[in-house]
Amino acid sequence: MEQGQYIMALDAGTTSNRCILFDRKGKVCSLVQREFQQIYPHPGWVEQNPMEIWSTQIGVAAEAMGRIGAGPENIAAIGITNQRETTIVWDRFTGKPVYNAIVWQCRRTSPIVEELVQDGFGDRIREKTGLIPDPYFSATKLKWILDHVPGSRELARKGRLLFGTVDSWLIWNLTGGDVHVTDYTNASRTMMFDIHNLCWDQEILEKLGIPEQMLPEVVPSSYPYGRTKDCLIGDGIPICGAAGDQQSALFGQCCFDAGDVKNTYGTGCFMLMNTGNKVISSSHGLLSTIAVSLAPGKVQYALEGSVFVAGASIQWLRDELKIIPSAPESERYCREVEDTDGCYVVPAFTGLGAPYWNSSARGMIVGLTRGTNRSHLVRATVESLAYQTADVLTAMEKDSELQICNLKVDGGASANDFLMKFQSDLLNTEVTRPECVETTAMGAAFLAGLCTGVWKDKEELRENWSVGHVFEPTMTEEERESLLGGWHRAVAAALAWAD
Ligand code: G3P
Repeated sequence: MEQGQYIMALDAGTTSNRCILFDRKGKVCSLVQREFQQIYPHPGWVEQNPMEIWSTQIGVAAEAMGRIGAGPENIAAIGITNQRETTIVWDRFTGKPVYNAIVWQCRRTSPIVEELVQDGFGDRIREKTGLIPDPYFSATKLKWILDHVPGSRELARKGRLLFGTVDSWLIWNLTGGDVHVTDYTNASRTMMFDIHNLCWDQEILEKLGIPEQMLPEVVPSSYPYGRTKDCLIGDGIPICGAAGDQQSALFGQCCFDAGDVKNTYGTGCFMLMNTGNKVISSSHGLLSTIAVSLAPGKVQYALEGSVFVAGASIQWLRDELKIIPSAPESERYCREVEDTDGCYVVPAFTGLGAPYWNSSARGMIVGLTRGTNRSHLVRATVESLAYQTADVLTAMEKDSELQICNLKVDGGASANDFLMKFQSDLLNTEVTRPECVETTAMGAAFLAGLCTGVWKDKEELRENWSVGHVFEPTMTEEERESLLGGWHRAVAAALAWAD
């Protein structure tokens, strides 16, 4: 086995942690995945144990290496990609978290956000961070921890406590507590970062009572952060790539130029359009965010449509309703019926994200008749992923004034051919699924590999990406309009319920 033969991607997702070892041609050589516990202390609250995030992540990394007999000398670089916004606070001396990780889906801080908006601070937040004030982002989660964990604000002020999103937490642990950093993409999801001036925003920190010394240093997504130390996978491996999972997928899909778009069907569904060096402010419910940074002080921006529940609704069919044995089998049920028999599922389990932004909306099933059966319900749930994507794509076309003629897709549910064809029909657009759908991990590997010279430039990265399947639209305009009309009536019902 050669020195530095593999590039390691650590993909710290919302429900599982994965490690993928890629070779220099971008081929997956080893993959290990492990789920970890989700904690729901109250309705609408979502937490995870940070120690479990760390132990499962380092565990799958060691196992992925072990499966192909690789040692630290065979790993050229590590790239990290992570569930974004999830908030962790820990003690810099003991390494112990002071509270569970508050997950991006958690709605507990809705009252804090409402207060900020009532105070007239919402527009300032939008201007500076590019984000729509919402409990989704890290800032109010961090404030909640400082407000509720006794003594924590004082310890933070004294410099003893550190804040980080999952990337920071992993890098800190991988380097034996030496390095406290985050990359620009993750910083842009905290609602504390000024995306124009590329710095933590003093006014927001002051407003929320957050001491700046607890925040990580913000560095590029492809950058020599440090080397592994005192951990299960051996010492000395360079850690040199990091990006939030959605930005990482954008990079992994080779969406390097302004106008390139991808949509990832994961726990949620996230469409990002690269907007180059321009911040486009949305008038249609999208976010402006940082797409990637390859050098200090240099970033590309993106427009993002964040849908909170996508693949999670298929897990709901499996785990709560127990009407499908496994997520992939949902496709078989979809094909058993010709349509949903007029049934729509709006999976607003944690409110609605883009383009509606209503945190009190709740899930809704409409159009039931005596003839509605399991297959109709499964199909309506699967179709909801496509409808939510259609709403986001319409907003994106309006904001960017560009017509999106081809959508690159990835993520677990992109393997569902029924869904991808329906998506193409609903958008009246080609949908392209790459050969390797591990684009989130691939993006992190690309970022790390660029930094260490495994790949020399973006052109070389493109050689690792190839088309798997293109889905072409065949639906009539009339049918499309009628289906979308029904969906919008169903969403209106979910929003009315919230009022
Ligand atoms: O913003 C949340 C997002 O990063 C979560 O991604 O892949 O776990 O759905 P995923």
